Amino acid sequence: MDKPTPIHDAVREHYASRARVENSCCDTSECCGSDNRIYPVELLADLPEDIANFSLGCGDPITLAELKTGQVVLDLGSGGGLDCFLAAKKVGESGRVIGVDMTPEMIARARANAERLGAANVEFRQGYLEDLPLEESSIDVVISNCVINLSPDKSRVFREIFRVLKPGGRIAVSDIVTNGQLPEALRNDMDAWGACVSGALDMRDYERNLNEAGFVTVNVQAKNADGKLLSVIPIGIPFSASITAFKPA
Ligand SMILES: C[S@@+](CC[C@H](N)C(=O)[O-])C[C@H]1O[C@@H](n2cnc3c(N)ncnc32)[C@H](O)[C@@H]1O
Repeated sequence: MDKPTPIHDAVREHYASRARVENSCCDTSECCGSDNRIYPVELLADLPEDIANFSLGCGDPITLAELKTGQVVLDLGSGGGLDCFLAAKKVGESGRVIGVDMTPEMIARARANAERLGAANVEFRQGYLEDLPLEESSIDVVISNCVINLSPDKSRVFREIFRVLKPGGRIAVSDIVTNGQLPEALRNDMDAWGACVSGALDMRDYERNLNEAGFVTVNVQAKNADGKLLSVIPIGIPFSASITAFKPA
């Protein structure tokens, strides 16, 4: 990526201010709505409250990912690091977790949390989803929680994910999508973009973009507040979804 776009700058500013506050934005429903805290209680059990509560996500990619001991995991837009710490427990000492985030304040917060937890198998790298600071074919599983919607160039993000995954590797992503397009005025509203609204892709475009990047067995599923599948998919409003796909072996 040559240089960050105005959308990157607006989103970075939004999350730099989130990183400086004590509690999750989800306390105020600003970022991700009431369906954020859907991790099973036992997943969060060993974590200090402030780390467990600093979640700006919209789902539970950890349960979705079904991680195994020894895997190398990449978390896109790792924020305060919660999903990285949860993933690290799953992959154990023989595994590794790398969090990437463009916002220096988030990276600083995540690194401080890792030090407090003594999380030796977790590292945080500052960088862009559109230009991942990672070797090709180096990752078993890519997770992400409420981040890809924030990118102004999602096709490029999907190509980057494909590049860094090992053959046979997969993605397990929670994200915000739509069923039908949002109104033009909303799509151009920078505050709404930062709050995970304006950049949401139509779920069919999400699937098509992943297929175009080379992924197979793509699945985009709408979820409700408890992480259960939605039987009726809302039209024209953003909602959370679980997305899985594979890089061919
Ligand atoms: C909604 S927060 C989610 C944070 C974390 N995944 C969680 O669940 O708490 C979005 C995060 O993605 C980062 N981010 C947004 N767009 C990005 C991009 N294009 N490249 C890298 N990081 C990005 C932001 O800095 C922010 O930390």
